[in-house]
Amino acid sequence: MAFATRRFVRAASSSSSSSAAAAKLLVKHVTVIGGGLMGAGIAQIAAASGHTVVLVDQSDEILKKSTKGIEESLKRVTKKKFAGAEFIEKTLKNLTTSTDAVAVVHSTDLVIEAIVENQEIKNELFKRLDKFAPEHTIFASNTSSLQITQLANSTTRQDRFGGLHFFNPVPMMKLVEVIKTPMTSQKTFESLMDFSKAVGKSPVSCKDTPGFIVNRLLVPYMMEAVRLFERGDASKEDIDVAMKLGAGYPMGPFELLDYVGLDTSKYIIDGWHVLEPNNPLFAPSPLLDKLVAEKKLGKKTGEGFYKYK
Ligand SMILES: NC(=O)c1ccc[n+]([C@@H]2O[C@H](COP(=O)([O-])OP(=O)(O)OC[C@H]3O[C@@H](n4cnc5c(N)ncnc54)[C@H](O)[C@@H]3O)[C@@H](O)[C@H]2O)c1
Repeated sequence: MAFATRRFVRAASSSSSSSAAAAKLLVKHVTVIGGGLMGAGIAQIAAASGHTVVLVDQSDEILKKSTKGIEESLKRVTKKKFAGAEFIEKTLKNLTTSTDAVAVVHSTDLVIEAIVENQEIKNELFKRLDKFAPEHTIFASNTSSLQITQLANSTTRQDRFGGLHFFNPVPMMKLVEVIKTPMTSQKTFESLMDFSKAVGKSPVSCKDTPGFIVNRLLVPYMMEAVRLFERGDASKEDIDVAMKLGAGYPMGPFELLDYVGLDTSKYIIDGWHVLEPNNPLFAPSPLLDKLVAEKKLGKKTGEGFYKYK
């Protein structure tokens, strides 16, 4: 694959940050690490918007599943947008897969990491790739709950490191949170904002703070709903109805918890509790802990706060 070119564009001249962002990186070649729920979606939208994408995972079997999922998703998008079959063909042409991140990273402009939510595993991956990626390559993590700064510190390119937090399902959800650590350069930040727009999303920016914007508001809200129910103040059904009909939310907090996964929600709140043990919004919930211990993780296991057939 012809990956070698590095392309830069001039930053907008009027901006006061123009000197810092003198030559933003125009991202053309993208490596997405992790072909699960999020990584496959990110690879799909990047390829569909004309980027050359390599999707990396641990085995060919997983990658086959990811590619099949992408093909099915593309068919749905094509139907919805009245696009022709050539849209699918063109997108798939831009997409290749690999099980060897080190071998593909030498010719990429942007690495987007979407692997398992584990600080040590992510750190190890970034540390390894840092040695093989070209100087100009930007690293980004899709983490929902880990600190971008800590991930960046596992590399020597802290200025070329940021967060790109996409939402599930990636092809449908319009938002991306672009996360800037104190070390992220203005040029990197603006390049990530431009990339987010180029893949058809509406980026917002946030500092490297727990949960960024959306989860910082959403997770404590869901935990407050659990605490309301735990105290016996209202039933979970009534809380869900109240938030749908009274606040206009499409799902109630318990429906949303079951959709997100109770293990994921517990993992996030436990992590924040360690960071800020005195913050009552981050306090663990005995009921949530009990359901997770019983492997009642929500929709994916057939039971969480509600039962699913
Ligand atoms: N699921 C969500 O709703 C959501 C939303 C936003 C962000 N995120 C974040 O995105 C990331 C991925 O989440 P997901 O839901 O897609 O997980 P997932 O379990 O569906 O996929 C993770 C993939 O990473 C692969 N993987 C693990 N270690 C790897 C390694 N060292 N090298 C290459 N591949 C590896 C796994 O085989 C798996 O296919 C997490 O950091 C998560 O916090 C998830």
